[in-house]
Amino acid sequence: MQILENQSLESCNTLHFPCRAEFFAPVHGVPELQELLAWARQRRMPVTVLGGGSNVVLGEELPGLVILNQIQGCEQISGSGAQPVLCVGAGENWHQLVLHTLAQGWAGLENLSLIPGAVGAAPIQNIGAYGVELAQCFQYLDTCAIADGSVRRFELADCAFGYRDSVFKNDCRDEYIITSVTLQLSTSQVVNTSYAELARELQEAGIESPTPREVSDTVIRIRSAKLPDPAEIGNAGSFFKNPVVGAACYARIRAQEPNVVGHLQADGRYKLAAGWLIDQCGWKGHRDGAVGVHDRQALVLVHHGGGTARELLHLAERIQACVAERYGVSLEVEPRIYA
Ligand code: FAD
Ligand code: EPU
Repeated sequence: MQILENQSLESCNTLHFPCRAEFFAPVHGVPELQELLAWARQRRMPVTVLGGGSNVVLGEELPGLVILNQIQGCEQISGSGAQPVLCVGAGENWHQLVLHTLAQGWAGLENLSLIPGAVGAAPIQNIGAYGVELAQCFQYLDTCAIADGSVRRFELADCAFGYRDSVFKNDCRDEYIITSVTLQLSTSQVVNTSYAELARELQEAGIESPTPREVSDTVIRIRSAKLPDPAEIGNAGSFFKNPVVGAACYARIRAQEPNVVGHLQADGRYKLAAGWLIDQCGWKGHRDGAVGVHDRQALVLVHHGGGTARELLHLAERIQACVAERYGVSLEVEPRIYA
């Protein structure tokens, strides 16, 4: 194992904030991970794991040991027929995995194309996009416990997946490092085009019965048109979750703003488009020195360079206050804050 001291994390987070890890180690396999955890335990150090750094806001310093998950591997473990089951190392790149499955003719992940980050982070917030969530093709995942390095398997029911939520953000927060994720895909060509913008784009392109590959290409086109590429401009995707409100709250806002974007949920509540609320408050394209609001998607906060997490969080608080005052809705931050 290789442990570096006082390592810059600027290239390890897609907001590109300057940050130093007290200690830093890449990890390539479970035995090496267990050794690293024992090393940190002997020194009573906190441990943080990072994948692609695309859903974190880093302050100036991360104390203790920062582990960069680079556990590779992608193995078809069963289901040679209609339902291939794939066990994937947590350090594999998510989008490359999606492309690999499509090349094999396997469906299931196409709507989740172009989401940055590593496979091991995908279950943390149950990544979702264009009408599909990870939970829909998830089978189980394997972990190492930070406390003692022991291995534990989490089945679907153990993960308590919800909208941008899982047990790893709640009861098991900071307790486990995910080492592999096992997914069940399909060789059928059935696709999900329930997301209105996706259906519209496919229709406009004249594609009536899209293949998984065509869905993937269309999702990539939609995303590329409105989401900033982290290689060009620092960001962590949506900075807030879409708020889910009661029917009375939704009716009140609708009376105020008939065009409000809201979707009825199975429990009778409504999920509002936070980007729409922020946009209505006039924040889209706003710039506050080194940080700002993306000019094509108001839900995405951006770092133009030379700024800090503190500046971005200050902007986020101003946006939250504005939306709360105008609509009586509170916005919850989506990325994990380490500042
Ligand atoms: P990191 O940022 O490295 O980590 C995020 C959190 O997960 C941290 O708390 C970290 O400690 C924890 N973690 C990471 N790896 C592990 C592990 N192996 N074990 C335990 N904990 C771990 N998300 C969506 O859901 N849908 C989208 O459409 C979407 N679009 C995005 C678009 C852009 C341009 C960007 C920048 C982000 C977007 N995101 C989206 C958010 C982000 O890509 C996902 O949350 C992704 O899963 C994060 O992966 P990561 O490897 O970068 O995680
Ligand atoms: N909208 C505006 N103005 C804006 C932004 C959005 O009016 O500036 C409106 C849109 O016109 C649309 C609605 O809000 O009617 C929803 O917008 P969009 O389809 O872009 O999706 P979103 O709700 O803003 C969510 C996820 C994204 C995911 C997309 C597609 C959350 C917090 N965000 O965004 O995930 O890619 O749907 O499914 O749920 C992420 O989590 O980082 C992320 C990018």
